[in-house]
Amino acid sequence: MSIPKPTDGLAWVTGASSGIGREIAIQLAKSGWRVAISARRADELAALVALYPDKMIAVPLDITDHDAVLAAVGRIEAEGPIARVILNAGTYVRDTGDAFDAARFRAQVEVNLIGTANCLEAVLPPLRTRRRGQIGIVSSLAGLAGLPGAVTYATTKAGLIAMAQSLKPDLDRYDIAISAICPGFVKTPLTAKNKFPMPFLMEVEAAAATMISGLDADRFLIAFPAGLAWPLRIIRFLPAPLFFAITKRMSNQ
Ligand SMILES: NC(=O)c1ccc[n+]([C@@H]2O[C@H](COP(=O)([O-])OP(=O)(O)OC[C@H]3O[C@@H](n4cnc5c(N)ncnc54)[C@H](OP(=O)(O)O)[C@@H]3O)[C@@H](O)[C@H]2O)c1
Repeated sequence: MSIPKPTDGLAWVTGASSGIGREIAIQLAKSGWRVAISARRADELAALVALYPDKMIAVPLDITDHDAVLAAVGRIEAEGPIARVILNAGTYVRDTGDAFDAARFRAQVEVNLIGTANCLEAVLPPLRTRRRGQIGIVSSLAGLAGLPGAVTYATTKAGLIAMAQSLKPDLDRYDIAISAICPGFVKTPLTAKNKFPMPFLMEVEAAAATMISGLDADRFLIAFPAGLAWPLRIIRFLPAPLFFAITKRMSNQ
């Protein structure tokens, strides 16, 4: 599988108005990519484009709006072929078994799962036609094991890993690379509201660099930092009583 280079076309980053997506867009631009940046807050996107006017174009959109996503991909393709896609837009609202709420569940599913599906539907046809490209889907280490406080979030992020796994054998036939990206805790507006301890909390610059180097190396599962990723990968295989002996300590934090 040949991994796309800046000379192959544009990178498209969703959720680029803040946090991880903004930093990925900056690092890609600095390494020579032209980057189409998307999110709902057009003012934040415009401010970022102003810093990299030759390297970035703003394509504001709400990923939950199916038709708007199709139109946005058409706009980007008119600028040049999309070669690398980082589907990073996402949301996290803490929820627990103490006050489960289906409307809150649906709202997060709408962004994290349906929104990502809208982007995939729009971007896969041109990539398949060209038989070239790369897609990184931003999941989370929370997608590796159901942890207290993340009932909906873990569900959506586990779904994204399964989505990437299911797609990979088919996309391999078109020489389209796909990765599931699973960061641990990263300092962004999304985690700023957390009141519980966040082990191995990373700076956004280091997290974005790890994600890009994982994509450059065509790793399927880009799970980091290792100190948190490995314990979570291992506890999934523990017998249930042992698994819950560990996770119940996180309940009510
Ligand atoms: N920070 C962490 O510790 C961490 C860990 C693991 C995984 N992640 C994942 O990394 C991704 C980025 O998170 P972050 O920490 O950088 O959070 P963030 O700073 O809150 O960024 C979230 C981004 O998603 C965009 N977004 C949200 N809903 C959208 C929608 N309906 N349509 C288009 N864009 C939308 C937001 O832009 P607008 O509000 O302008 O639309 C924003 O640019 C998320 O998928 C998150 O789940 C984060």
